[in-house]
Amino acid sequence: MDPISIIGRFHPVLVHLPIGIFVAAILLAALSMVEKYRFLRDSTRIILGIGLITAVLSMVSGYVLSLEGSNSEADVEIHQWTAIGMTLIYAAYFFFSPLITNHKYPNLIALLILLGSLVLTGHQGGSLTHGENFLWSMGTENDKKTTLPVIADIQKADIYRDIVGHTLQTKCVECHGANKQKGKLRLDDPTWIDKGGKNGAVLVKGDAENSELIKRLLLDESDDHHMPPKEKEQLTTAEKSILSWWIRTGAKYTATVESLAPDENILKELENFKSNLTRPEVKNIERPVVTAADALLIQSLKKIGWVISPIAVNDNHLRATGFNLTVDIDSALTLLGGVADQLIELKLNKSGINDSSIYRIEKFQSLEKLWLENNSISDIGINSINKLKHLQYLNLSNTQITTTGLKKIISLGQLRSIYVSRTEIRPEDAKQMMALLKNVKIFTSDSLPKLPTDSLLVKKEK
Ligand code: HEC
Repeated sequence: MDPISIIGRFHPVLVHLPIGIFVAAILLAALSMVEKYRFLRDSTRIILGIGLITAVLSMVSGYVLSLEGSNSEADVEIHQWTAIGMTLIYAAYFFFSPLITNHKYPNLIALLILLGSLVLTGHQGGSLTHGENFLWSMGTENDKKTTLPVIADIQKADIYRDIVGHTLQTKCVECHGANKQKGKLRLDDPTWIDKGGKNGAVLVKGDAENSELIKRLLLDESDDHHMPPKEKEQLTTAEKSILSWWIRTGAKYTATVESLAPDENILKELENFKSNLTRPEVKNIERPVVTAADALLIQSLKKIGWVISPIAVNDNHLRATGFNLTVDIDSALTLLGGVADQLIELKLNKSGINDSSIYRIEKFQSLEKLWLENNSISDIGINSINKLKHLQYLNLSNTQITTTGLKKIISLGQLRSIYVSRTEIRPEDAKQMMALLKNVKIFTSDSLPKLPTDSLLVKKEK
């Protein structure tokens, strides 16, 4: 930080001097109206004079601070003028007090005005700063709130609303937004973006290389003028290419991707951008602690063909695979009910479960993953699945589920991946549904990425 701006940093400390001194002066002036304390009048004036000097120093430091551009310009301007006004009022009282101190009411009114203007200016200044430790920190970063854009088809996406705006919002607005305007620049709205910063326009529409905004992104990360500053999350390669392309094509605020005729490279970057967006949030799953399942029960489950294994070492949660059950599915699920609290994953591929037996899965309320592929389950059976509030993964491939059934479960809170290959659900239906829901992926083709746990679950044929 250069020495000049350090002066600005002392503003929050300096302002307390005139406040304290002026309060003392007002109290003394009031007191000196009583005959007994008349002798205080001269010292009151001296104190007022000192107060005025500190007020001028505060204003100078405040002005330097405002150059840093950390606060909203409009708010700063109001504060600046009330501070000047207040100082003028105090100066007037300083010069004219000998004329009115002998008149009780005019003097009282003058003192009230002094007090009022002091409170007003102090309050305005206080609300400009962000908390007590403003002197040492860069303030709070609380305006980093964003919602994920929903992009079904990248060609149809809105270039600014869904893509460019999202990048600026997540990577720039915390310093260039409503709360802070570093470099006097706001990037949270087209009007502000076009307005530019303290050095003028940041966009040259049609010419990315000469746009300050892009130049800043491309500077070496160690360069002081690189954006975002190196300690912050940087732009992805896709975001940088898309921003440049957006400016090259005229920096339009309302245009679909399609209308800007993206070439193959840009399309690839756009797809990358999209997949970064829809990557399901990795949440720490908080499971209730459970006691270990009864060892004898596990034994009897294994006897009828269930493959039971712990989810992890030192974890009592279980997964069960019912691929080679030796009893009917109803009895098998009834017995499995004994480990309902522990059961997190249930594989029922080709188990013979159907619409009339599926209600038995409703008691497995802790289920996070459920495999039901290759069974005769229709939209009727779906209602039972709808009761599993923790379900994240669901495989319904090669069942009779239709779009109607899928619509019933898709809003299950935790559901992230649904596999429906070899059903009558068409890719375009899936696409449509995904457009409505963030983070839910519906897979209609067979080239599925296998879950890593799959290999552990295959029971060896005897
Ligand atoms: C941590 C805060 C911070 C973040 C995040 C940040 N900037 Fe800045 N930005 C600054 C500061 C401080 C300045 C003024 C100093 C300077 O010019 O380097 C500035 C200045 C600028 C300027 C120059 C404005 C002018 O007219 O002088 C541009 C352009 C800019 N930033 C673009 C961006 C973009 C684009 C992003 C997001 C990719 C971004 N900034 C993110 C702090 C930030």
